[in-house]
Amino acid sequence: MKVYVMVGAPGAGKGTQAAILAERLGLRHLASGDLFREAVRSGTPVGLEAKRYMDRGALVPDPVVIAMIDERLDRSDAAAGVILDGFPRTRPQAESLDAALARRGAQVDAALYVGVPEEELVRRLSGRWICRAAGHPYHDVSRPPRVPGICDIDGSELYQRDDDRPETVRARLAQQLEPMYDVIDHYTTQGVLVAVDGTQSIDDVTQALLRAIAHPARPVNRSEAA
Ligand code: AP5
Ligand code: MG
Repeated sequence: MKVYVMVGAPGAGKGTQAAILAERLGLRHLASGDLFREAVRSGTPVGLEAKRYMDRGALVPDPVVIAMIDERLDRSDAAAGVILDGFPRTRPQAESLDAALARRGAQVDAALYVGVPEEELVRRLSGRWICRAAGHPYHDVSRPPRVPGICDIDGSELYQRDDDRPETVRARLAQQLEPMYDVIDHYTTQGVLVAVDGTQSIDDVTQALLRAIAHPARPVNRSEAA
């Protein structure tokens, strides 16, 4: 089972790239935010709990997220491999994922960090549109749909996410960057972190990620480095 993890700030392009890579590599795209939004729409207990945090731009508590992802990894559509988008977001989540994968004889093959400066994140989130059917992302300026308001891929209606309002975007950035750096540190220590410049065009970011996946640097662990 191949496992890639997308790491990046809100709006960095995790969902955009994960969808493209999943298609190219034949892997399942699993986005924690999409799973929560689906649970909110269906009004499940997990959805009701998650909504309280998402509306404030805060992270959903680790146990809720970990249980949800663990259950999804057991489904048959994840058997060939997954691209995790939006998970893990904290060090305890990263440690739980390592344990969950080890139980299945797998490990994180690469953590793909898409780096984008904060001003650009705000620009990207304020112009973002998402499709109702599958969460395919568009942008007013950088990735407009062929027909305004309609998803190119599945024809469903496009909408703007509640948490893309400017005040919630500011809260997400204020609360979520710090734990993301812990996740980066976790995968750097494991020698599986790949960092790409996320300010390039969508295509160039994809090419950089595919090159990094095809030619992974030999992991250096701490005992070798010492
Ligand atoms: P989630 O849905 O994961 O949101 P996020 O991390 O804030 O990230 P986004 O989906 O907003 O951005 P993205 O990186 O996917 O960017 P995108 O590709 O769309 O999580 C939502 C909430 O759920 C969280 O706030 C939290 O409450 C909760 N949650 C989820 N997972 C959790 C977890 N593990 N633990 C705890 N809580 C959790 O791109 C953005 C825009 O930019 C688009 O318009 C796109 O078209 C455009 N764009 C993309 N790439 C480029 C480019 N290269 N150049 C120009 N424009 C670009
Ligand atoms: Mg996303």
